[in-house]
Amino acid sequence: MDFNNEFKGIDFDAMDYPPTDEPLRQMYFMYKLRKVFDEKEKSLGRKLTYCVVTFGCQMNAHDSEKLEGILEEIGLNAASEDTADIVIYNTCTVRENANQKLYGHLGQLKAAKKSNSEMLIALCGCMMQQDDVREYIREKFRFVDVVFGTFNVFMLAELLYRRYSGEKQVIEVKKEHGKNFENSLPEKRKYSFKSGVNIMYGCNNFCTYCIVPYVRGREISRTPEDILDEIKSLVADGVTEIMLLGQNVNSYGKKYMDESEIVKSSAEYDFPELLNDVCKIEGIRRVRFMTSHPKDLSDRLIEAIKNNPKVCRQMHLPVQAGSNRILKAMNRHYTREHYLEIIEKLRASVPDIGITTDIMVGFPGETEEDFLDTVDIVDRVGYDQVFTFIYSRRSGTPAAEMEQVPEDVVKDRFDRLLKKVSEKAAERVGRFKNTIAEVLVEDMDSHDETMVTGRMSNNTLVHFKGCKEMIGKYINVKLTEEKGFYYIGEPADNLEGLAE
Ligand code: 5AD
Ligand code: SF4
Repeated sequence: MDFNNEFKGIDFDAMDYPPTDEPLRQMYFMYKLRKVFDEKEKSLGRKLTYCVVTFGCQMNAHDSEKLEGILEEIGLNAASEDTADIVIYNTCTVRENANQKLYGHLGQLKAAKKSNSEMLIALCGCMMQQDDVREYIREKFRFVDVVFGTFNVFMLAELLYRRYSGEKQVIEVKKEHGKNFENSLPEKRKYSFKSGVNIMYGCNNFCTYCIVPYVRGREISRTPEDILDEIKSLVADGVTEIMLLGQNVNSYGKKYMDESEIVKSSAEYDFPELLNDVCKIEGIRRVRFMTSHPKDLSDRLIEAIKNNPKVCRQMHLPVQAGSNRILKAMNRHYTREHYLEIIEKLRASVPDIGITTDIMVGFPGETEEDFLDTVDIVDRVGYDQVFTFIYSRRSGTPAAEMEQVPEDVVKDRFDRLLKKVSEKAAERVGRFKNTIAEVLVEDMDSHDETMVTGRMSNNTLVHFKGCKEMIGKYINVKLTEEKGFYYIGEPADNLEGLAE
């Protein structure tokens, strides 16, 4: 949708009150804010700027694109964290030390705020969904201007306007899902040719260590129509690669959010079907998704990947631990045997698939034997990449009440796990050497201006000689040299007309 036209086509000055309908209401506040900023910019003699600092997962990164889209629509320019007039921290709360880090950052910003009277600080994201965090900020950080939650992202303009209208500390945190206006508010995409798309929100799994279900709420899916419409408009905007996002995409479609109502799905429409429908959209070249929960990964999904070359050869399948006893205590609902069976099926059906995972060390009650089971899983699977985490005690979760493993034991296991992970990764690199792979070019190489970088379908990075005209294009590349986690290659296509 062309937001600019909609925005300009409406006479907001003629309105005595803000409209109650969304997203019109937010457009009204964007318009009002633009006027506030125009005045400020005139008296300051310079443009006002913003910076959104993002922590955590892909969902947060995607929310930040929405925040940036709104701020740019209002007419602000991007700037660095230490010079921006409006600084927004989009927080993550999966691990406890993130909270401490944020408080540290805020301490520094207090001084910055003293030297720039225009500076406004806003906090959002998962941490802000927690009552005790908000209470702490209210008490200790009075200079924070705006606090909002994960369900309030779309109302940024309204919240800023309230602050500029004199409210001291604006706090707005919804606890339940409502419509998010994904397709009708501006977004600033990092890349013009690829985009994340939320297909569902929240999580019902309650893994015993995890705080996400408490802060992101129960699982709810967007309707297929809503998602497909958004993707069609992204394609019209030049996007060819889509990343479908959700905490557990494999359970897509159990309950739908339709307008602001929540309706139970009646049709048998599930994630593999959505995946196929997304691939059918003309102009889509690649579809990725994340995250998958092993307990819900069906044979139908494996079939969908196998039969559809547009689905990327990439699977992020968090295992968390390799011991059945620990998996049970984590409430993961699968065994190591079941997990290994899925891996076997995936590799049998899609031989070139890249498999990545999340692993946690030091879950309460983890014995040396349990830990060795985790090392054994890493050995057996041979992951392309492993994201390793030290268990972090999150109050309010069941695992916080269980017997904790001493810190020095955890640290030692973590180091041993890292060693195993890099040994195994070294065995796998180079398996595509001298083959030709299709690469979507994403950027110029940051170290060498004659090179470009891009990704293969299985998400492996490739660098090769190129020029900026190649960005956003799919190019066949011969992978001539392996460099650990990436390849150096040579274009295998005739690139006349592209290269300078
Ligand atoms: N401590 C450490 N890691 C955690 N994760 C989730 N909760 C915790 C926690 N309390 C990890 C899991 C998950 C990833 C996104 O973060 O491995 O898959
Ligand atoms: Fe957390 Fe488990 Fe839900 Fe993932 S599936 S968000 S680890 S509760």
